[in-house]
Amino acid sequence: MSVYILGIESSCDDTSAAVIEDTTILSNVIASQKVHAEYGGVVPELASRAHQQNIIPVIDTALKRAKINKNQLSAIAFTNGPGLLGSLLVGSSFAKAMAYSLDIPLIQVDHLQAHVLANFLQKKDEPKPVPAFPFLCLTVSGGHTLLLQVNDYFDMQRIGGTIDDAAGEAFDKAAKILGLPYPGGPVIDRYAKEGDPRRFQFAIAHIPGLDYSFSGLKTSFLYFVRDHLKENPNFIEENIHDLCASIQYAIIKSLTDKLVKALKQTDCQDLVLAGGVSANSGLRDAATDLARRYRKRLFLPSLDLTTDNAAMIAVSGYFKFLKGDFVGVDAVPYSSERAK
Ligand code: KG4
Ligand code: ZN
Repeated sequence: MSVYILGIESSCDDTSAAVIEDTTILSNVIASQKVHAEYGGVVPELASRAHQQNIIPVIDTALKRAKINKNQLSAIAFTNGPGLLGSLLVGSSFAKAMAYSLDIPLIQVDHLQAHVLANFLQKKDEPKPVPAFPFLCLTVSGGHTLLLQVNDYFDMQRIGGTIDDAAGEAFDKAAKILGLPYPGGPVIDRYAKEGDPRRFQFAIAHIPGLDYSFSGLKTSFLYFVRDHLKENPNFIEENIHDLCASIQYAIIKSLTDKLVKALKQTDCQDLVLAGGVSANSGLRDAATDLARRYRKRLFLPSLDLTTDNAAMIAVSGYFKFLKGDFVGVDAVPYSSERAK
C-alpha cells in the first residue's frame, strides 16, 4: 500500500508544502517571499507574517495538485529546525493541528538532513538512481556549509564545516557589495558565465582539517572593490562579469579543495551535493570533474530541489514513517544546527 506524506517547510523565507507517494513527488508548491528583497536579506518578523498568510493556500494547492484528499494522508512531516524560530512556529503549529485533527502521525524533520535526503526524491515517469551508503555529501546553503559522511538516512556524521559564514552567505554578501539583488547566488552565477574567473585573484583561507572559512574572503572582496571604486567609479559596471566569475571561482575552489581532501580520507564511492548553492553551475561542473578524476559516482539534486522546498521534508518524513519515528504536539522547534 502506498504511503502519502504531506511535507511542510517554513524555516526561512519560503513557505512550501508537498505531497509525495512513497518517494515520488505528486506536488511541490513553493511561495517565495518577495518582501525581503528591498532589505537585502531576510527580515525574521516579516518572514513569520508572510508564512501565516501563505500557509493555508500553499497546503491547499499542494493537496489539489497532488489530487489527494487530506483523509488519504498517512502522516504529516514538518521542519522543526534549524531556522528562524518565528517562521518554524508557523509551519510546526499548523502541522501539529492538522495531524491532530486528522488523527495521523506527526513527524519532525531536520532541515539540513532533508537537503541531503532530497537526493532520494523521484519525479513521476523520470526514475533516477539514488546514492548508496556510506556517501560523502557537501551540503551548501544560505545558512550552512557542511561536509558529511552519510552512513544511513539519519546517521550523518559531520566531518567538516564552516567556522564562520556559509558558502551561500559568501555569495549573497559578495552580491550585496556589487549592488546586486538578494539572493545574490543565482545572479552571480548568471554573470559569471560570461566572465573570466582568473581575472582577479582572491585569497582562499587555509583552515586546518576539513573546515571552511569565508569571512576573510568577503572582507578582502569588499576592500578590493572599494579601493577600485575610488580610482574608477564605474569599476563595478565595467567589470561585473569578471568580478562575479572571480569571486565564484574563489568560493568554489575553497569548497572543492576540502572535498578532494575528504574523498581521500573517507572510503565513499558516491559523492553527493545538497542545498541551495548546489544549484550553482560552476560548482556542479567542478564536482563533475572531481567525480570523473577520482572515479566516484556523482549525485546532484535537480535544480528545483536544491533550494528550500517541502518535497525534501516529505521524503525525510517518509523514511521516518517507515521506522515509526513520530513526535507529539509538544515537539519544540530549534534554531541552531544540532550536533551530529
Ligand atoms: O538551501 P537554501 O534555499 O536555503 C537555506 O537553507 O539556506 O539556500 C539558499 C542559498 C542562498 O544563499 C542563495 O544565494 C544560494 O543558496 N543559491 C545559489 C544559487 N542558487 C541559490 N548560490 C550560488 N549559485 C546559485 N545558482
Ligand atoms: Zn535550506
